[in-house]
Amino acid sequence: MNSSHAYLSGLFSLDGRVALVTGGSSGIGRAVTGALARAGARVVVVARRQRELAATVEELTSAGCRAAWVSGDLGSRDGVRAAAEEAAAVFGEPDILVNSAGINLRPPMAETDEDVWDTTMAVNLEAPFLLGRRFGPGMAERGFGRIIHITSQQAHRAFVQSGAYGVSKGALESLARSQAEAWSPYGVTVNTLVPGFVMTPLNQRLSSDPERVAALAARTMTGRNGLAEDFEGAAVFLASRASAYVTGQSIFVDGGFSVH
Ligand SMILES: NC(=O)c1ccc[n+]([C@@H]2O[C@H](COP(=O)([O-])OP(=O)(O)OC[C@H]3O[C@@H](n4cnc5c(N)ncnc54)[C@H](OP(=O)(O)O)[C@@H]3O)[C@@H](O)[C@H]2O)c1
Repeated sequence: MNSSHAYLSGLFSLDGRVALVTGGSSGIGRAVTGALARAGARVVVVARRQRELAATVEELTSAGCRAAWVSGDLGSRDGVRAAAEEAAAVFGEPDILVNSAGINLRPPMAETDEDVWDTTMAVNLEAPFLLGRRFGPGMAERGFGRIIHITSQQAHRAFVQSGAYGVSKGALESLARSQAEAWSPYGVTVNTLVPGFVMTPLNQRLSSDPERVAALAARTMTGRNGLAEDFEGAAVFLASRASAYVTGQSIFVDGGFSVH
């Protein structure tokens, strides 16, 4: 290994680490899964649809990475608990937990009923809370851990009927700060990545309208909307040793959207 490779590897290599990525079979989560696996981690991906899970894992294992999938529904507390146990049984207890699974139901505020509220909170907020309780204390005991939540600009501003979604993401950033407060003294950092508008299946309706897409791109500083792969570098950084002194932070990966 030449000296720059050794240096970079000392900072960023995830060799020997185990990661669990929820929602790792699509969009941002899938890009993050690939990045962590290519940086050396063994990664377990959790989502519902088996075909997407299998395709994600197949792509990585055929590239020489170690990855596995668990099909589970994070929309119920029992589902979260079952998926967590199944995932931890594959490569062992995770050192890195990424909460990317999320849903965005967008009824107008007056039509946001209790079902929308409960379903949104279950996947976007309760699952990360329960997974944090399940894995955070073990990471603290072992003296190393990385928890990365994926929130949204809607944690900070209303945007296209944010409704319950924005509330869940705002609360998730608060959860991250409380988890950081609890576990950072023991080597477990907790941060959130905050996307702007990213072209993924989550916002298919909006991203299939070329005028809206162009208008959103114009609101960034970089002149384009986000792509899932824009999250790869930030995820590896937050999962690695290099970020040991970064905790409780919301890091915007949005082409400057939030500051324009
Ligand atoms: N795209 C954007 O512009 C944008 C902007 C801000 C924030 N975000 C956030 O970024 C994260 C990833 O979004 P994305 O755009 O990559 O979305 P995506 O492509 O729709 O991926 C969502 C992932 O979550 C999984 N998931 C959804 N509900 C689940 C459940 N009940 N149980 C288990 N897994 C579930 C999905 O798999 P299954 O459907 O197979 O379960 C899928 O793997 C989300 O938290 C989202 O809120 C996205």
